[in-house]
Amino acid sequence: MQSSTREALISSGTPRSAGRRSAGSATCADHAQQSLEITLPDSSEEVSQALEWCHVRVGDGEQCRIRFHDYDAVYLVPGLYEQIFCDVLECCSPVTVRRLLEDAIEDTEIAPEDLRVLDLGAGNGMVGEELVELGARRIVGVDILDAAAEAAERDRPGVYEEYVVTDMTSLSDRQRAWLSTFDFNCLTCVAALGFGDIPTAAFVEAYNLVATGGLVAFNIKEEFLNGQDTSGFAELIKAMCKDGIVDVQERERYRHRLSISGEPLHYVAMVVIKRRDLDH
Ligand SMILES: C[S@@+](CC[C@H](N)C(=O)[O-])C[C@H]1O[C@@H](n2cnc3c(N)ncnc32)[C@H](O)[C@@H]1O
Repeated sequence: MQSSTREALISSGTPRSAGRRSAGSATCADHAQQSLEITLPDSSEEVSQALEWCHVRVGDGEQCRIRFHDYDAVYLVPGLYEQIFCDVLECCSPVTVRRLLEDAIEDTEIAPEDLRVLDLGAGNGMVGEELVELGARRIVGVDILDAAAEAAERDRPGVYEEYVVTDMTSLSDRQRAWLSTFDFNCLTCVAALGFGDIPTAAFVEAYNLVATGGLVAFNIKEEFLNGQDTSGFAELIKAMCKDGIVDVQERERYRHRLSISGEPLHYVAMVVIKRRDLDH
């Protein structure tokens, strides 16, 4: 257990290592334009992951309370997403999924520079940035929030060839046809499944946009894979693996990040090769 209140104060331009990020990746300090002060609540307060929050002070402004899953508010402040998740809570998922994808690619005939990636739940582009470092040149981001698209353009311009703001559960025929023209051979979906974020229907829609033989890299909280899961992901992923819909290339249980009380939150990251479409 870590101390009950952890504070981080990073001024713009002050380089600071963000734990497990790969060499060359930007930390929050590179994106922050003003100093950000983050204060976590007392660790004795039990809060479920979907309701976790912190206090944030931007520059000399007033302190305000932000729930982590209010992504609109988080993306609005340059560097805040990176500072909360990477610097304070030590999230390593974009780096972990990228590493597993890199390992999986070695067993395929796909060269990194030939990847055509659909990044589902792209947020402000942290995964896109990892994909660029991996060598991918064509990446399309999809997110339900305008604020995510705006933050990706602001913080990581040039990473995404296109960035589509849409709810993947209700893609129009026109959007589906347009996305099909990219002939994706890879799907990434990091820190976005479950928790009122991306439901199974959206994942299936994105998965079906990937060509047979393509790679699908994602992570999910380990509880969503067990018998008590009500999100539908446990059943879906079990069926995908058991029924030969995919071949599992990589699977790793790891510490995704810390909770606000300093406890480890374990996720499972997987990279699979698509063998056939999923039923809607
Ligand atoms: C925790 S963020 C992850 C962002 C990024 N993948 C990363 O690892 O930093 C989850 C993202 O999923 C997006 N999202 C939630 N539901 C969605 C949906 N139905 N369709 C597309 N994006 C969705 C949210 O807006 C949010 O930006």
